Amino acid sequence: MVLEGFMAACGQTVVSTGVSKLLTLLVAIQSAALASFGGGPDFDPKYYVDIPLRYSLNETARAFDALPRLQNNTIPPRVLEQFLSQYFELADSNVIADAPKDFNRIPQNFLPLVHNPQVRKWALQIHELWLELSRKISPSVAMNPNKNTLLPLNNTVLVPGARFREVYYWDSYWVIKGLLVSGMTDTAKGVIENLMELAERYGFVPNGARIYYENRSQPPLLSMMIRAVYEKTHDKALLKRALPILLREHAFWTSEPHEVRVRDKNGDEHRLSRFWAHWNSPRPESFTIDTHVARGMNKSRAAQLYHDIATAAESGWDFSSRWMEDQQNLRTLRTSMIIPVDLNAFLFQMEKNVEYFASILGNQTIQTQFASAASDRQRAIQRILWSRKRGQWFDAWLSPNGCSFSENDNKTIVYEWKQKRLTYASNFVPLWAGVLPKGDPRRALVVEALNKSGLVLPAGIATSLRNTGQQWDFPNAWAPLVDMVIEGLDASGIPRGKMMAKAISQSWIRSNYEAYHQVGKMLEKYDATSCGKIGGGGEYNLQTGFGWSNGVVLSLLQKYGWPADKPLFCPDAL
Ligand SMILES: *[C@@H]1O[C@H](CO)[C@@H](O)[C@H](O)[C@H]1NC(C)=O
Ligand SMILES: *[C@@H]1O[C@H](CO)[C@@H](O)[C@H](O)[C@H]1NC(C)=O
Ligand SMILES: *[C@@H]1O[C@H](CO)[C@@H](O)[C@H](O)[C@H]1NC(C)=O
Ligand SMILES: *[C@@H]1O[C@H](CO)[C@@H](O)[C@H](O)[C@H]1NC(C)=O
Ligand SMILES: *[C@@H]1O[C@H](CO)[C@@H](O)[C@H](O)[C@H]1NC(C)=O
Ligand SMILES: *[C@@H]1O[C@H](CO)[C@@H](O)[C@H](O)[C@H]1NC(C)=O
Ligand SMILES: *[C@@H]1O[C@H](CO)[C@@H](O)[C@H](O)[C@H]1NC(C)=O
Ligand SMILES: *[C@@H]1O[C@H](CO)[C@@H](O)[C@H](O)[C@H]1NC(C)=O
Repeated sequence: MVLEGFMAACGQTVVSTGVSKLLTLLVAIQSAALASFGGGPDFDPKYYVDIPLRYSLNETARAFDALPRLQNNTIPPRVLEQFLSQYFELADSNVIADAPKDFNRIPQNFLPLVHNPQVRKWALQIHELWLELSRKISPSVAMNPNKNTLLPLNNTVLVPGARFREVYYWDSYWVIKGLLVSGMTDTAKGVIENLMELAERYGFVPNGARIYYENRSQPPLLSMMIRAVYEKTHDKALLKRALPILLREHAFWTSEPHEVRVRDKNGDEHRLSRFWAHWNSPRPESFTIDTHVARGMNKSRAAQLYHDIATAAESGWDFSSRWMEDQQNLRTLRTSMIIPVDLNAFLFQMEKNVEYFASILGNQTIQTQFASAASDRQRAIQRILWSRKRGQWFDAWLSPNGCSFSENDNKTIVYEWKQKRLTYASNFVPLWAGVLPKGDPRRALVVEALNKSGLVLPAGIATSLRNTGQQWDFPNAWAPLVDMVIEGLDASGIPRGKMMAKAISQSWIRSNYEAYHQVGKMLEKYDATSCGKIGGGGEYNLQTGFGWSNGVVLSLLQKYGWPADKPLFCPDAL
């Protein structure tokens, strides 16, 4: 299957070379399952690309082709069920539960500032969830790449939970923050080593450890993970191993097509980055959904939409009004034509971290090079994405038709662009990333803008102000966004910002606690509008587990503690 290029307007083309034979078969089975079983709320297309084959790929494909079909070409449900149980292993059969060696039921010096016994008890329960989320990849995976979409990894993996049976890239940063609170430094290092092995193989860290994630990445936080572990361990060997890998990852995000050029009002040229999946077909794990979204479109229009869907998955925000031209319809996604605030903040952090690591390793060349890359990006972020009037940063939308050639390098396109001034939690990520230096008076503007944004609600930070039914929109609150906002406010140096940080942390902890006692689980997302309310929306059911939520609760409790007499219940439940 070869799809032709598209987006000729500004010289942008994505050429997909096609899908492996294994994925082609599994996607065909997924489509057959939808037709046979019907698409009820429990139908999860991802399940069908996760199940390991019991016999060889050829044999399985032959058996599938030979199944009897009804006149309308569907397979009778019972026949398909029988085929699935005969030819496939259970979805979790290629991972082995594994208790990390550095896990202690009661870690040393655990949460010294938490004095309330109920909070301690709950925190220990969350700490114990690491056991439920730890896995070793079975050796059979490396031996049988044709039977498994799972990617082999050497070290213990920490999965988010439920349908997310594999490692994810940006989730791992908050998992590591939690592991460090739990005293599981070696496990945290193993998580990083896994991601570094993937980065060595692909030149970037893929979205997750499945073959169907290998054509896109996720928000690049590897350097932040390394910094978190380094600050705890002062392990220079880790930095030494990481440096060349981070240089490769940086090159991935700062070369075309991820990097684009734009000019500011004075005509000065800047380089910033965007998300860009190397994929323009339906995502294998959501093939049935994506083809439904693109129904009725011609081939090139559909390829463009599939590319923007996969690119939204690379952004971590799948899906959000943030990436839609009309802010409501998935068919108007234009993710790849947006310069995102958060991505560039993450890259600024990466550049500062590499500068710092190089300084520790005594590598002056790299140190100087990355100090200069960081200051270029800082300037670009301020010239292109910042709004002084609104005290925050906004995504810039590139014009697909408006472009010219660079004067500096006439083979390179310079895009026209426009800020789209809508309110998203991502508008405040640069405060966390330290894009404004210490003491910069603009920090107070950002704190003020956040206070007035409407995003700060009784149970955390809403992702946006628009309720689209998508999961990265109002009223959902996500642990990583809440954490970045809190850490940014706390580091702002503005007293009011520090107060807000503490207040948001308390309402987040209370809401997570209340929901935990209602449903007995930690959740992937919550509802910011009301303490203890759980999140919803999006293309799959609410997931439990949950790696990054656990990590954020533990790290906030480490930071702020909880006094013995402070009530833990939601204010309205008092
Ligand atoms: C996806 O990534 C794999 C592994 O790097 C590569 O072999 C394949 O060509 C890529 N597919 C596309 C469509 O770029
Ligand atoms: C196909 O035909 C069968 C038997 O007539 C029917 O039960 C089923 O709903 C049909 N499926 C689809 C997807 O049309
Ligand atoms: C699988 O089938 C293809 C053709 O259908 C053939 O070329 C290939 O050798 C077979 N592989 C194995 C392992 O039997
Ligand atoms: C696991 O470690 C071995 C030995 O160091 C190495 O050869 C192999 O490539 C690693 N596996 C992965 C998946 O990186
Ligand atoms: C600095 O790091 C780069 C990339 O790893 C390496 O090629 C170079 O040799 C290093 N220089 C010194 C002086 O260590
Ligand atoms: C495909 O559809 C798009 C928009 O719907 C249209 O602009 C384009 O001309 C169509 N292309 C072909 C080859 O029909
Ligand atoms: C483009 O590059 C060529 C060769 O380097 C040069 O001769 C030409 O003047 C350049 N054009 C512009 C518009 O910069
Ligand atoms: C905004 O600031 C005012 C005045 O300090 C305060 O009363 C209010 O609670 C703040 N709002 C939020 C959402 O933090």
